[in-house]
This record gives sequence, structure tokens and C-alpha cells, in this order.
Amino acid sequence: MTKVTWLGHASMAIETANYHVLVDPFINGNPAAPVKEEELKADFILVSHGHGDHVGDTISIAKRTNALVITNFEISNWLNNHGIRTHPQHIGGGYRHPFGYLKLTQALHGSGLPDGSYGGNPAGFLLTTHEGRKIYLACDTGLFGDMRLIGEEGIDLAVLPIGDNFTMGPEDALRAVKLIQPRHVIPIHYNTWDLIAQDVHAWKAKVEAETSTQVHVLAPGQSLELS
Ligand code: NI
Ligand code: MN
Repeated sequence: MTKVTWLGHASMAIETANYHVLVDPFINGNPAAPVKEEELKADFILVSHGHGDHVGDTISIAKRTNALVITNFEISNWLNNHGIRTHPQHIGGGYRHPFGYLKLTQALHGSGLPDGSYGGNPAGFLLTTHEGRKIYLACDTGLFGDMRLIGEEGIDLAVLPIGDNFTMGPEDALRAVKLIQPRHVIPIHYNTWDLIAQDVHAWKAKVEAETSTQVHVLAPGQSLELS
């Protein structure tokens, strides 16, 4: 069983094969965070790109839990300089970690780090669990046609941004669903601030009217279980 919990904004907690995997853990400064940073368990932390709302609390959580951070080569080096253990990967490359096979995917976005350091290229993640479930976390990105190639792998769950302004908005996220054709979708990266406020229930209705994908609107702290 794999359990995927939304921690508000773009932060996710994935429990799979008895491992706790955090994605872009941004808790302090995240008005939608349903937990305190100190409450989070982590064996692994995935960081999609260098922006502050994604690197978030990675350093303090990794120091407290000794979690291994998986991110691109450039952010990996930056974290090493802060005393954090990392496993660098890069776009198109996959690796069999204890929690599953993880591949980095392309994302159309920026990746500068909070202190102005170069953060390489932004990425998404494609996780294949031990049960063979495929979870695609698009992370911060605009729409791109090669989402179709990712969809060809047979996606059980896609986690997509819908907030607009910094990432895909609702219309492009609907087009993304049509390219990826996942069984399930969790929308994220909306309503954290007024700048990215969206009517998620209207989006769910439109996606479910035009595709066979099931949309799961989670409140921060709520989970979806994939059996
Ligand atoms: Ni970003
Ligand atoms: Mn972001």
C-alpha cells in the first residue's frame, strides 16, 4: 500500500514500502501547512528545484532525521555544502532506491536557490513503487507536449500544479491530464496565497466531464491511498 498525503502548497508525504518520503517539504512559511516541521518523519526527501517554496525546510528536516536527499546534481552539491547527505540524479536518469525506482523528469520552470546560487534545471519525479504503481509528480512546470511520453508509462497517480501564475493554470492542467491520462490526479500548488487562488472543485468537475481520470481534492493533511 502506498499513501500520499498533501501537506499544502507543493509539499507531499509519501509512505511506501515502510519508508517515509517527503517531496518539497515547505512547512515554515507555508500558510497551508497542516503539521509542524518537527512532526514530520523522513527517510528520504525529494527536492524538485531550488526555489524557496520547494527546498523549504529540507536542511533542518534532513539534519534532524538524517534523511537522504535526492535532487539534481547542482542542488545536491549546494546541500552537501550545508552538511546534508544527498544522492544526485538528473533528468532522464532513474535509480532503484529502497522505496522504489525514481526517475527525474523534465519541468519547464526555474531553479535558482534562495541564496542566489545556481540550482541547475528544475525537475519532476516519476516513482515506480514496489507494488508497481506509477506516481508522476510534475512539480512546478508549465505544460509540455512530452507529458504524453510520461503518460505512455501508464500513470496511476499524477500530482499536478493548477495554481497558474508560476505554473500551469487550470486550463493547461486539464490539457496535461489529457496528455498523461492518469487513473487519478491530485491538484496542488494552488490557494496557498491569493496569487494562485483557484476554484479546484470547478476544475475537478471539468476534468471528470472531459476525461476518465478521477480527481481527488485533498485538504492539507488529507491522504489518498493507492492499493
Ligand atoms: Ni518554483
Ligand atoms: Mn513553487
